[in-house]
Amino acid sequence: MGGSFHPQSGLERIRPYVPGRPIDEVKRLYGLTDVIKLASNENPLGVSPKALEAMKEALPRLNLYPDGSSHALREALSERFTLPIDSIAVGNGADDLILQISLAYLDQGDEVVVSRSSFPLYDIYAHAMRAKIVKTELSPGYRLDLAAMAAAIGERTKVVYVCNPNNPTGTIVTAGQVDRFLDSIPDSVLVVFDEAYYEMVDSPDYPDSLSYVREGRGNVIVLRTFSKAYGLAGIRLGYGFGSPEAIAPLFKVKPAFSVNTLAQVAGIAALEDAEFLSRSIESNRREREFLYQGFSRLGLEYAESHTNFILVRIGPEAAAIQEELLKMGVIVRPCAGYDLPEYLRISIGTREENERLLSSLEIALSKTEG
Ligand SMILES: Cc1ncc(COP(=O)(O)O)c(C=O)c1O
Repeated sequence: MGGSFHPQSGLERIRPYVPGRPIDEVKRLYGLTDVIKLASNENPLGVSPKALEAMKEALPRLNLYPDGSSHALREALSERFTLPIDSIAVGNGADDLILQISLAYLDQGDEVVVSRSSFPLYDIYAHAMRAKIVKTELSPGYRLDLAAMAAAIGERTKVVYVCNPNNPTGTIVTAGQVDRFLDSIPDSVLVVFDEAYYEMVDSPDYPDSLSYVREGRGNVIVLRTFSKAYGLAGIRLGYGFGSPEAIAPLFKVKPAFSVNTLAQVAGIAALEDAEFLSRSIESNRREREFLYQGFSRLGLEYAESHTNFILVRIGPEAAAIQEELLKMGVIVRPCAGYDLPEYLRISIGTREENERLLSSLEIALSKTEG
Protein backbone atom coordinates (compact mmCIF):
# COMPACT_ATOMS: atom_id res chain seq x y z
CA MET A 1 0.00 0.00 0.00
CA GLY A 2 1.58 3.26 -1.11
CA GLY A 3 -0.80 5.76 0.59
CA SER A 4 0.91 8.40 2.67
CA PHE A 5 -1.79 8.35 5.35
CA HIS A 6 -2.52 5.38 7.57
CA PRO A 7 -4.41 4.61 10.76
CA GLN A 8 -2.60 4.79 14.09
CA SER A 9 -0.49 1.78 15.01
CA GLY A 10 -2.88 0.31 17.61
CA LEU A 11 -5.29 -0.68 14.89
CA GLU A 12 -2.85 -3.24 13.53
CA ARG A 13 -3.58 -5.43 16.55
CA ILE A 14 -7.35 -5.21 16.35
CA ARG A 15 -9.28 -8.31 15.37
CA PRO A 16 -12.57 -6.74 14.24
CA TYR A 17 -15.67 -7.59 16.27
CA VAL A 18 -17.92 -10.00 14.36
CA PRO A 19 -21.55 -9.57 15.44
CA GLY A 20 -24.27 -12.19 15.02
CA ARG A 21 -25.44 -12.49 11.41
CA PRO A 22 -28.53 -10.34 10.77
CA ILE A 23 -31.74 -12.22 9.88
CA ASP A 24 -32.22 -10.33 6.58
CA GLU A 25 -28.69 -11.15 5.46
CA VAL A 26 -29.19 -14.87 6.07
CA LYS A 27 -32.55 -14.78 4.26
CA ARG A 28 -30.90 -13.09 1.28
CA LEU A 29 -27.80 -15.29 1.13
CA TYR A 30 -29.55 -18.62 1.65
CA GLY A 31 -32.81 -17.84 -0.16
CA LEU A 32 -34.86 -18.40 3.02
CA THR A 33 -38.06 -16.77 4.24
CA ASP A 34 -38.20 -18.06 7.82
CA VAL A 35 -35.07 -17.45 9.85
CA ILE A 36 -34.54 -17.35 13.62
CA LYS A 37 -31.61 -15.68 15.36
CA LEU A 38 -30.15 -17.19 18.49
CA ALA A 39 -26.81 -15.48 18.07
CA SER A 40 -26.75 -12.17 19.96
CA ASN A 41 -28.36 -12.90 23.32
CA GLU A 42 -31.38 -10.76 22.58
CA ASN A 43 -34.66 -10.98 24.46
CA PRO A 44 -36.95 -13.46 22.65
CA LEU A 45 -40.07 -11.95 24.28
CA GLY A 46 -39.61 -8.64 22.45
CA VAL A 47 -39.42 -5.11 23.85
CA SER A 48 -40.61 -4.04 27.30
CA PRO A 49 -44.18 -2.83 26.55
CA LYS A 50 -43.81 0.15 28.88
CA ALA A 51 -40.62 1.21 27.09
CA LEU A 52 -42.34 0.82 23.73
CA GLU A 53 -45.20 3.08 24.83
CA ALA A 54 -42.80 5.72 26.15
CA MET A 55 -40.86 5.74 22.88
CA LYS A 56 -44.03 6.17 20.84
CA GLU A 57 -44.99 9.15 22.98
CA ALA A 58 -41.56 10.73 22.51
CA LEU A 59 -41.48 10.44 18.71
CA PRO A 60 -42.88 13.95 18.00
CA ARG A 61 -40.08 15.49 20.09
CA LEU A 62 -37.30 14.13 17.90
CA ASN A 63 -36.72 17.56 16.33
CA LEU A 64 -34.98 18.47 19.60
CA TYR A 65 -31.58 17.27 20.74
CA PRO A 66 -31.61 14.86 23.64
CA ASP A 67 -30.60 15.95 27.14
CA GLY A 68 -26.83 15.46 26.88
CA SER A 69 -26.59 14.64 30.59
CA SER A 70 -29.52 12.16 30.50
CA HIS A 71 -30.53 13.70 33.81
CA ALA A 72 -34.00 12.16 34.22
CA LEU A 73 -32.73 8.71 33.28
CA ARG A 74 -29.78 8.94 35.65
CA GLU A 75 -32.14 10.16 38.37
CA ALA A 76 -34.37 7.13 37.80
CA LEU A 77 -31.32 4.85 38.00
CA SER A 78 -30.20 6.69 41.12
CA GLU A 79 -33.53 6.03 42.83
CA ARG A 80 -33.70 2.41 41.72
CA PHE A 81 -30.20 1.52 42.84
CA THR A 82 -29.88 4.01 45.71
CA LEU A 83 -26.66 5.58 44.55
CA PRO A 84 -26.06 9.31 44.01
CA ILE A 85 -26.56 10.63 40.50
CA ASP A 86 -22.89 11.56 40.11
CA SER A 87 -22.09 7.86 40.61
CA ILE A 88 -24.01 7.01 37.44
CA ALA A 89 -22.94 7.11 33.79
CA VAL A 90 -25.00 6.13 30.75
CA GLY A 91 -23.95 5.28 27.24
CA ASN A 92 -25.03 4.21 23.78
CA GLY A 93 -25.03 0.61 25.01
CA ALA A 94 -22.64 -0.78 27.62
CA ASP A 95 -20.38 -1.01 24.59
CA ASP A 96 -20.11 2.80 24.54
CA LEU A 97 -19.21 2.82 28.23
CA ILE A 98 -16.35 0.39 27.57
CA LEU A 99 -15.15 2.82 24.91
CA GLN A 100 -15.54 5.77 27.29
CA ILE A 101 -13.56 3.94 29.99
CA SER A 102 -10.82 3.21 27.46
CA LEU A 103 -10.70 6.83 26.27
CA ALA A 104 -10.73 8.17 29.80
CA TYR A 105 -8.24 5.84 31.43
CA LEU A 106 -5.77 4.34 28.97
CA ASP A 107 -2.49 5.85 27.84
CA GLN A 108 -0.20 4.34 25.25
CA GLY A 109 1.73 1.46 26.80
CA ASP A 110 -0.67 0.94 29.71
CA GLU A 111 -1.71 -2.63 30.39
CA VAL A 112 -5.23 -4.01 30.48
CA VAL A 113 -5.82 -7.41 32.07
CA VAL A 114 -8.59 -9.53 30.56
CA SER A 115 -9.41 -13.20 30.46
CA ARG A 116 -9.08 -15.31 27.39
CA SER A 117 -12.52 -16.16 25.96
CA SER A 118 -14.23 -13.07 27.28
CA PHE A 119 -16.02 -10.12 25.65
CA PRO A 120 -13.87 -8.93 22.71
CA LEU A 121 -14.63 -5.20 22.87
CA TYR A 122 -12.31 -4.77 25.87
CA ASP A 123 -9.39 -5.75 23.64
CA ILE A 124 -10.53 -3.69 20.66
CA TYR A 125 -10.84 -0.40 22.50
CA ALA A 126 -7.65 -1.02 24.50
CA HIS A 127 -5.73 -1.59 21.27
CA ALA A 128 -7.26 1.56 19.84
CA MET A 129 -5.66 3.43 22.76
CA ARG A 130 -2.36 1.64 22.00
CA ALA A 131 -2.54 -0.09 25.35
CA LYS A 132 -1.23 -3.61 25.85
CA ILE A 133 -3.57 -6.53 26.53
CA VAL A 134 -2.46 -9.11 29.09
CA LYS A 135 -4.56 -12.30 28.94
CA THR A 136 -5.07 -15.00 31.52
CA GLU A 137 -6.41 -18.50 30.88
CA LEU A 138 -9.85 -19.72 31.94
CA SER A 139 -10.14 -21.96 35.01
CA PRO A 140 -11.62 -25.44 34.66
CA GLY A 141 -15.39 -25.17 34.29
CA TYR A 142 -15.00 -22.22 31.89
CA ARG A 143 -14.67 -19.70 34.71
CA LEU A 144 -12.58 -16.57 34.85
CA ASP A 145 -9.44 -17.21 36.90
CA LEU A 146 -9.41 -14.23 39.23
CA ALA A 147 -6.26 -15.40 41.03
CA ALA A 148 -4.43 -15.48 37.69
CA MET A 149 -5.87 -12.09 36.77
CA ALA A 150 -4.61 -10.62 40.06
CA ALA A 151 -1.20 -12.18 39.45
CA ALA A 152 -1.10 -10.66 35.94
CA ILE A 153 -1.38 -7.14 37.33
CA GLY A 154 1.85 -5.21 37.00
CA GLU A 155 3.10 -1.66 37.38
CA ARG A 156 1.59 -0.55 34.08
CA THR A 157 -1.82 -2.15 34.66
CA LYS A 158 -4.57 0.45 34.48
CA VAL A 159 -7.77 -1.53 33.98
CA VAL A 160 -8.99 -5.09 34.65
CA TYR A 161 -12.21 -6.34 33.06
CA VAL A 162 -14.18 -8.93 35.00
CA CYS A 163 -17.04 -10.05 32.80
CA ASN A 164 -19.49 -11.55 35.29
CA PRO A 165 -21.33 -13.57 34.05
CA ASN A 166 -18.77 -14.06 31.34
CA ASN A 167 -19.65 -13.88 27.68
CA PRO A 168 -19.34 -16.37 25.90
CA THR A 169 -19.04 -18.99 28.67
CA GLY A 170 -22.07 -17.93 30.78
CA THR A 171 -20.25 -18.67 34.04
CA ILE A 172 -19.87 -16.49 37.14
CA VAL A 173 -17.14 -15.76 39.62
CA THR A 174 -18.35 -15.78 43.22
CA ALA A 175 -18.58 -13.07 45.87
CA GLY A 176 -15.83 -14.79 47.87
CA GLN A 177 -13.51 -14.89 44.86
CA VAL A 178 -14.21 -11.26 44.02
CA ASP A 179 -13.65 -10.13 47.64
CA ARG A 180 -10.25 -11.86 47.69
CA PHE A 181 -9.42 -10.42 44.29
CA LEU A 182 -10.24 -6.83 45.29
CA ASP A 183 -8.29 -7.15 48.52
CA SER A 184 -5.22 -8.44 46.70
CA ILE A 185 -4.81 -5.74 44.06
CA PRO A 186 -3.59 -2.14 44.28
CA ASP A 187 -6.34 0.49 44.32
CA SER A 188 -4.57 2.27 41.45
CA VAL A 189 -6.07 -0.37 39.17
CA LEU A 190 -9.60 0.26 37.89
CA VAL A 191 -11.72 -2.89 38.10
CA VAL A 192 -14.62 -2.98 35.66
CA PHE A 193 -17.31 -5.53 36.45
CA ASP A 194 -19.26 -6.06 33.25
CA GLU A 195 -22.65 -7.32 34.39
CA ALA A 196 -24.57 -7.19 31.11
CA TYR A 197 -26.49 -10.33 32.18
CA TYR A 198 -26.88 -9.69 35.90
CA GLU A 199 -30.70 -9.82 35.91
CA MET A 200 -30.54 -13.47 34.77
CA VAL A 201 -28.31 -14.64 37.60
CA ASP A 202 -30.02 -16.37 40.50
CA SER A 203 -27.03 -17.84 42.27
CA PRO A 204 -26.60 -16.93 45.94
CA ASP A 205 -22.84 -16.83 45.24
CA TYR A 206 -23.12 -13.94 42.79
CA PRO A 207 -21.43 -10.83 44.20
CA ASP A 208 -23.43 -7.72 45.06
CA SER A 209 -20.99 -5.55 43.19
CA LEU A 210 -22.85 -2.30 43.91
CA SER A 211 -21.95 -2.82 47.56
CA TYR A 212 -18.31 -2.23 46.57
CA VAL A 213 -19.31 1.14 45.13
CA ARG A 214 -21.48 1.97 48.17
CA GLU A 215 -18.64 1.04 50.52
CA GLY A 216 -16.55 3.66 48.77
CA ARG A 217 -14.14 1.50 46.81
CA GLY A 218 -13.01 4.19 44.40
CA ASN A 219 -11.52 1.86 41.82
CA VAL A 220 -14.66 -0.10 40.88
CA ILE A 221 -17.03 0.51 37.96
CA VAL A 222 -20.04 -1.75 37.36
CA LEU A 223 -21.56 -1.89 33.87
CA ARG A 224 -25.08 -3.01 32.99
CA THR A 225 -27.39 -2.77 30.00
CA PHE A 226 -31.00 -2.52 28.90
CA SER A 227 -30.19 -4.71 25.87
CA LYS A 228 -30.88 -8.10 27.42
CA ALA A 229 -33.48 -8.45 30.17
CA TYR A 230 -35.42 -5.36 29.05
CA GLY A 231 -35.41 -6.26 25.36
CA LEU A 232 -33.90 -2.97 24.20
CA ALA A 233 -30.79 -4.07 22.27
CA GLY A 234 -31.78 -2.02 19.23
CA ILE A 235 -32.18 1.28 21.06
CA ARG A 236 -28.63 1.08 22.55
CA LEU A 237 -28.66 1.89 26.25
CA GLY A 238 -26.16 0.91 28.89
CA TYR A 239 -25.37 2.29 32.34
CA GLY A 240 -22.58 2.19 34.84
CA PHE A 241 -21.96 2.81 38.53
CA GLY A 242 -18.82 3.92 40.30
CA SER A 243 -17.48 6.46 42.73
CA PRO A 244 -17.97 10.05 41.48
CA GLU A 245 -14.18 10.20 41.01
CA ALA A 246 -14.21 7.10 38.80
CA ILE A 247 -17.25 8.24 36.80
CA ALA A 248 -16.41 11.95 36.24
CA PRO A 249 -13.68 11.27 33.62
CA LEU A 250 -16.25 9.45 31.45
CA PHE A 251 -18.26 12.67 31.12
CA LYS A 252 -15.20 14.40 29.70
CA VAL A 253 -14.82 11.97 26.80
CA LYS A 254 -18.35 10.86 26.03
CA PRO A 255 -19.94 11.98 22.77
CA ALA A 256 -22.12 15.04 23.47
CA PHE A 257 -25.40 13.19 22.82
CA SER A 258 -24.43 9.56 23.11
CA VAL A 259 -27.82 8.50 24.52
CA ASN A 260 -30.67 9.47 22.22
CA THR A 261 -34.10 10.73 23.30
CA LEU A 262 -35.89 7.45 22.67
CA ALA A 263 -33.31 5.53 24.67
CA GLN A 264 -33.64 7.92 27.61
CA VAL A 265 -37.42 7.61 27.86
CA ALA A 266 -37.28 3.88 27.16
CA GLY A 267 -34.82 3.33 30.00
CA ILE A 268 -36.95 5.23 32.53
CA ALA A 269 -40.08 3.30 31.50
CA ALA A 270 -38.30 -0.06 31.38
CA LEU A 271 -37.16 0.35 34.99
CA GLU A 272 -40.87 0.52 35.91
CA ASP A 273 -41.73 -2.59 33.90
CA ALA A 274 -41.35 -5.17 36.65
CA GLU A 275 -43.86 -7.46 34.95
CA PHE A 276 -41.87 -7.72 31.71
CA LEU A 277 -38.62 -8.15 33.58
CA SER A 278 -39.89 -11.03 35.70
CA ARG A 279 -41.58 -12.67 32.71
CA SER A 280 -38.28 -12.46 30.78
CA ILE A 281 -36.27 -13.92 33.64
CA GLU A 282 -38.78 -16.70 34.26
CA SER A 283 -38.97 -17.68 30.59
CA ASN A 284 -35.20 -17.69 30.35
CA ARG A 285 -34.84 -19.94 33.40
CA ARG A 286 -37.41 -22.42 32.09
CA GLU A 287 -36.05 -22.49 28.54
CA ARG A 288 -32.47 -22.84 29.75
CA GLU A 289 -33.50 -26.11 31.45
CA PHE A 290 -35.30 -27.20 28.29
CA LEU A 291 -32.16 -26.62 26.19
CA TYR A 292 -29.93 -28.37 28.77
CA GLN A 293 -32.12 -31.45 28.44
CA GLY A 294 -32.01 -31.20 24.65
CA PHE A 295 -28.23 -30.87 24.53
CA SER A 296 -27.82 -33.81 26.91
CA ARG A 297 -30.10 -35.90 24.72
CA LEU A 298 -27.86 -35.06 21.75
CA GLY A 299 -24.78 -36.02 23.78
CA LEU A 300 -23.43 -32.48 23.80
CA GLU A 301 -21.43 -31.02 26.68
CA TYR A 302 -22.36 -27.49 27.76
CA ALA A 303 -21.28 -24.95 30.36
CA GLU A 304 -23.84 -24.30 33.14
CA SER A 305 -25.10 -20.83 32.30
CA HIS A 306 -26.15 -17.88 34.44
CA THR A 307 -27.23 -15.94 31.36
CA ASN A 308 -29.58 -16.05 28.37
CA PHE A 309 -27.14 -18.07 26.26
CA ILE A 310 -25.36 -21.41 26.54
CA LEU A 311 -21.86 -22.38 25.41
CA VAL A 312 -22.09 -25.81 23.77
CA ARG A 313 -19.15 -28.04 22.89
CA ILE A 314 -19.59 -29.37 19.37
CA GLY A 315 -16.06 -30.52 18.50
CA PRO A 316 -13.90 -29.98 15.42
CA GLU A 317 -17.04 -29.82 13.25
CA ALA A 318 -18.39 -26.72 15.00
CA ALA A 319 -17.93 -24.42 11.99
CA ALA A 320 -19.56 -26.96 9.64
CA ILE A 321 -22.48 -27.45 12.02
CA GLN A 322 -22.97 -23.71 12.29
CA GLU A 323 -23.06 -23.49 8.51
CA GLU A 324 -25.61 -26.34 8.31
CA LEU A 325 -27.78 -24.52 10.85
CA LEU A 326 -27.63 -21.35 8.77
CA LYS A 327 -28.87 -23.27 5.74
CA MET A 328 -31.84 -24.37 7.86
CA GLY A 329 -32.51 -20.77 8.90
CA VAL A 330 -31.10 -20.97 12.42
CA ILE A 331 -28.41 -18.41 13.29
CA VAL A 332 -26.14 -19.24 16.23
CA ARG A 333 -22.77 -17.80 17.18
CA PRO A 334 -19.50 -19.48 16.19
CA CYS A 335 -16.87 -19.07 18.90
CA ALA A 336 -13.55 -19.14 16.98
CA GLY A 337 -13.32 -15.37 17.60
CA TYR A 338 -13.50 -16.12 21.34
CA ASP A 339 -10.64 -18.65 21.12
CA LEU A 340 -13.14 -21.50 21.44
CA PRO A 341 -13.23 -22.91 17.88
CA GLU A 342 -14.94 -26.16 18.89
CA TYR A 343 -17.92 -24.43 20.50
CA LEU A 344 -21.12 -22.65 19.55
CA ARG A 345 -22.80 -20.02 21.69
CA ILE A 346 -26.55 -20.43 21.51
CA SER A 347 -28.93 -17.77 22.80
CA ILE A 348 -31.99 -19.00 24.65
CA GLY A 349 -35.13 -18.36 22.62
CA THR A 350 -38.85 -19.03 22.98
CA ARG A 351 -39.97 -22.66 23.31
CA GLU A 352 -40.80 -22.74 19.62
CA GLU A 353 -37.37 -21.37 18.65
CA ASN A 354 -35.60 -23.73 21.01
CA GLU A 355 -37.46 -26.73 19.59
CA ARG A 356 -36.48 -25.68 16.09
CA LEU A 357 -32.87 -25.18 17.17
CA LEU A 358 -32.69 -28.64 18.73
CA SER A 359 -34.28 -30.45 15.78
CA SER A 360 -32.07 -28.55 13.30
CA LEU A 361 -29.01 -29.31 15.42
CA GLU A 362 -29.88 -32.99 15.45
CA ILE A 363 -30.08 -33.01 11.64
CA ALA A 364 -26.85 -31.01 11.29
CA LEU A 365 -25.01 -33.38 13.65
CA SER A 366 -26.19 -36.45 11.76
CA LYS A 367 -25.07 -34.88 8.43
CA THR A 368 -21.56 -34.14 9.58
CA GLU A 369 -21.12 -37.52 11.35
CA GLY A 370 -20.68 -39.51 8.21
C1 LIG B 1 -20.56 -9.02 28.37
C2 LIG B 1 -21.14 -7.95 27.55
N1 LIG B 1 -20.84 -6.68 27.81
C3 LIG B 1 -21.36 -5.69 27.09
C4 LIG B 1 -22.22 -5.93 26.06
C5 LIG B 1 -22.72 -4.77 25.28
O1 LIG B 1 -24.02 -4.49 25.59
P1 LIG B 1 -24.78 -3.29 24.92
O2 LIG B 1 -25.79 -3.88 24.00
O3 LIG B 1 -25.40 -2.56 26.07
O4 LIG B 1 -23.78 -2.44 24.20
C6 LIG B 1 -22.57 -7.23 25.73
C7 LIG B 1 -23.48 -7.50 24.61
O5 LIG B 1 -23.65 -8.58 24.16
C8 LIG B 1 -22.01 -8.27 26.49
O6 LIG B 1 -22.28 -9.55 26.23
